Amino acid sequence: VELNCFCWTTSIPNLPEFWHITDLHLDPSYHLAPDPTKVCYSSKGVPATNPGLYGDFLCDSPYRLIESAFTNMASLTQPEDFIIWTGDSPPHVPPDELSTDIVIQVISNMTQTIRQHFPNMTVYPAVGNHDYWPQDQMPDSTNAIYKAAAQFWKPWLQADALLTLSQGGFYSQLAKPGLRVVSVNTILYYGPDKVTRNMTDPAGQFEWLEKTLERAAQNLEKVYIIAHVPVGYLPFVRNTTAIRKSHNERLVTIFRKYSHVIAGHFYGHTHRDSIMVLQDKQGKPVNSLFVSPAVTPIKDAEQSYSNNPSFRMYLYNNKDYTMLDIWQYYLNLTEANEKQRSDWRLEYVMTEAFGLIDLQPQSLLQLGLSFMLPQTKTFHKYFNHFMVSYNNSITCDGGCKVSQVCSVLYLDQLSYSKCAKGAWEH
Ligand SMILES: *[C@@H]1O[C@H](CO)[C@@H](O)[C@H](O)[C@H]1NC(C)=O
Ligand SMILES: *[C@@H]1O[C@H](CO)[C@@H](O)[C@H](O)[C@H]1NC(C)=O
Ligand SMILES: *[C@@H]1O[C@H](CO)[C@@H](O)[C@H](O)[C@H]1NC(C)=O
Ligand SMILES: *[C@@H]1O[C@H](CO)[C@@H](O)[C@H](O)[C@H]1NC(C)=O
Ligand SMILES: *[C@@H]1O[C@H](CO)[C@@H](O)[C@H](O)[C@H]1NC(C)=O
Ligand SMILES: *[C@@H]1O[C@H](CO)[C@@H](O)[C@H](O)[C@H]1NC(C)=O
Ligand SMILES: [Zn+2]
Repeated sequence: VELNCFCWTTSIPNLPEFWHITDLHLDPSYHLAPDPTKVCYSSKGVPATNPGLYGDFLCDSPYRLIESAFTNMASLTQPEDFIIWTGDSPPHVPPDELSTDIVIQVISNMTQTIRQHFPNMTVYPAVGNHDYWPQDQMPDSTNAIYKAAAQFWKPWLQADALLTLSQGGFYSQLAKPGLRVVSVNTILYYGPDKVTRNMTDPAGQFEWLEKTLERAAQNLEKVYIIAHVPVGYLPFVRNTTAIRKSHNERLVTIFRKYSHVIAGHFYGHTHRDSIMVLQDKQGKPVNSLFVSPAVTPIKDAEQSYSNNPSFRMYLYNNKDYTMLDIWQYYLNLTEANEKQRSDWRLEYVMTEAFGLIDLQPQSLLQLGLSFMLPQTKTFHKYFNHFMVSYNNSITCDGGCKVSQVCSVLYLDQLSYSKCAKGAWEH
């Protein structure tokens, strides 16, 4: 067996790579006010717990945090990369604090900030549920926000991509010969989106997606799916899909049908670090899916944990575009605030952390199945990464573990329900 994991490497291997950033959630109101309830609008009047220059776990990102992330990424970058950016730029504040104009301004600001740090790099964005006003209510037709995004993203996207983006918030584009990025607007399938609630195929996106994947197959291309809200089940709550159940079933069916074309899926939205593996109806692993943790450190006051700010790099095989590894970076927010300095560090290298040879579906299936064993060391490590090393003493057993593990392994209702009965858990 050829040992081709990147165990023990100290510098990024010389392989093709791309960055993934998500959920920046800029809060322009963040400042070190004497009154902790006034530090940021995004804490919604709850006193900030430990506010510092780089943020607070009850607030969205100060601009300084976002700039430090991009400055750090740029210093680690080799040429010929691209970036995927899976949405959610505005802060978590009540709708009357925002407006269509403000949302457009925030998206413009984030676009310019990325362009300043990466003037020559192509960025593939996907729209998030907060990239609209009122939040989540994305329509199935053209509007001021899709149009503004298409205007801002002209330096990165070609005319045909800009056209579908301005009409429905989705697009596809060839990233390099043989590799196509397909940016899916999963907000159209998101439960809180009242506009599309009763539609079987909002904006005709399912039909478009199937056609796009069919054409990619004919042209012998591989596809990376990028989107904000992930397909499949949420890891932190039982029996709950991230998008509507019916739309989830349809998406899983499409992804199974075209799994031989799709070389990876990349999502955001949950703000936490998780994986999924799509199995076909016979239980053969056919796709690897990755949910990247957020830049914003925000949590609700009643939540017992959050995530440290993060971004990541994927390494892939240049011949077949299969996924080889993740280099996950993070900022220890507590430490950064104490030292008033932002030392972004490598949190883990996925193959090394879990003893894998690569991130292909078979490898992720083995990892997911190993979580089911009563010996919990591997799962404990996975859960600590889930929180981006927020607090290694927080554990996830019993029902918490069942939800996590079933969401990794099962994406459709039938297979998930069997798992969620938890008969494997003792
Ligand atoms: C983005 O917003 C930040 C914080 O409000 C501000 O300091 C910065 O100048 C803005 N940048 C651009 C390019 O608009
Ligand atoms: C960007 O590309 C231009 C033209 O190819 C080049 O002159 C410039 O040095 C590049 N900038 C960076 C930061 O790589
Ligand atoms: C969707 O259907 C439900 C029940 O059939 C109905 O009550 C609701 O008004 C519909 N919503 C929209 C936005 O059409
Ligand atoms: C983050 O920094 C804090 C304060 O310096 C420290 O207590 C904690 O252990 C650090 N966390 C990690 C994962 O290194
Ligand atoms: C980490 O979690 C443990 C267990 O829940 C808790 O007792 C401890 O106070 C937490 N540490 C910090 C720094 O929040
Ligand atoms: C999960 O929810 C579905 C309805 O959405 C229900 O039919 C099923 O019984 C539930 N399964 C479990 C294990 O709770
Ligand atoms: Zn978000």
